[in-house]
Amino acid sequence: MAALELTQVRKVFDGNVVLNDVNLRIENGELLVLLGPSGCGKSTLLRMIAGLDTISSGELRIDSQLANHLPPAKRQLAMVFQSYALYPHMSVYDNMAFSLKMAGIHAAQIREKVQAAAATLQITHLLDRLPKALSGGQRQRVAIGRAIVREPAVFLFDEPLSNLDAALRGQMRVELARLHKQLGATMIYVTHDQVEAMTLGQRIVVLNQGRIEQLGTPAQLYRTPATLFVARFLGTPAINCFPAQYMSSTGPVLRIGGQFLLHSQIAFNGQPGDQLVVAVRPEHMRFSSHADAPEAMFTAQVSVVEQLGDCSLIYVKTSWHDEDIVIRDPECREWQTGQQVGLYFDPANALVFGADGVRIGQAAAVASLSQPH
Ligand SMILES: Nc1ncnc2c1ncn2[C@@H]1O[C@H](COP(=O)(O)OP(=O)(O)O)[C@@H](O)[C@H]1O
Ligand SMILES: [Mg+2]
Repeated sequence: MAALELTQVRKVFDGNVVLNDVNLRIENGELLVLLGPSGCGKSTLLRMIAGLDTISSGELRIDSQLANHLPPAKRQLAMVFQSYALYPHMSVYDNMAFSLKMAGIHAAQIREKVQAAAATLQITHLLDRLPKALSGGQRQRVAIGRAIVREPAVFLFDEPLSNLDAALRGQMRVELARLHKQLGATMIYVTHDQVEAMTLGQRIVVLNQGRIEQLGTPAQLYRTPATLFVARFLGTPAINCFPAQYMSSTGPVLRIGGQFLLHSQIAFNGQPGDQLVVAVRPEHMRFSSHADAPEAMFTAQVSVVEQLGDCSLIYVKTSWHDEDIVIRDPECREWQTGQQVGLYFDPANALVFGADGVRIGQAAAVASLSQPH
């Protein structure tokens, strides 16, 4: 086990800044997830930690020791990739034993370590097989086994489950969480899949274009996203974003869709007319079958209904917003396409973002509502 610390880390490839101002501390025994869209710099960050890419500037410390120039072999890290990178001509046993043999470890000790890792991963019955005789999930287990036998101080996973089908991904996710508990190891897990990140991570770092957008627990990121980027990246279907206009500098009022007003207590230092975004998650949207119900903030027309069994998702259109608004209905009521509904939400569940995408004030700060006049 080890703790890692990155300070002001920056990576430049051919004059392009790929990572900038990365400050991060990973605690001993922690499972930290790096989450972000393709190309945001996740693999580069992991490779710099592993010593496979150089750090352009800034510091990497492993257990307080400066590690910028430590060769990969001396870092006591093991990396597991999306492509399993197994040796095709070697048995599972030999694949797992290879690095230990290279390190000159005694055969009996190698056998013990490989057997123990195989038992942990439930692949003992596969030890004599060649990789080509394994399923994708089994190959991924072997790749993880190869990391475990080395007893690294830190495990680095780079999208290890991306090649597996959805059911197997779900199963391996649970097993990785169990493995983390069992080994008590420090792990950094890279993924672009927000569901994987939310279910696996104790803490998640959201990366966007080479910068840390936010670091927090899954619940913190979901409930109090620091930016619109984080709010939209987490949650399926994505959070509804309503364009809003800031109306008054004395008593802040937000106008949404030109139709209704939200009185708010946000501390906003803006000008009347400034554009803001009010965001509401699908599970916080409410609706009434009467478009003119007294609680309705605005009317909308049902365009698509998806029945998911445990809930239904209703996509509705308004006259003033290009994007569909999505509502999660846990009661799975029957809705007809084309039907008019009245929509509303509890302002306490609305998140307000500035034009720069940064959240303004607290989620519960939007206080009361008045009807259009
Ligand atoms: N060896 C390299 N040379 C030049 N650019 C690179 C190299 N490796 C990665 N990049 C660039 O760095 C950015 C981040 O890449 P990467 O870390 O692979 O992203 P992710 O893993 O999040 O998908 C991308 O724009 C990519 O094109
Ligand atoms: Mg990558």
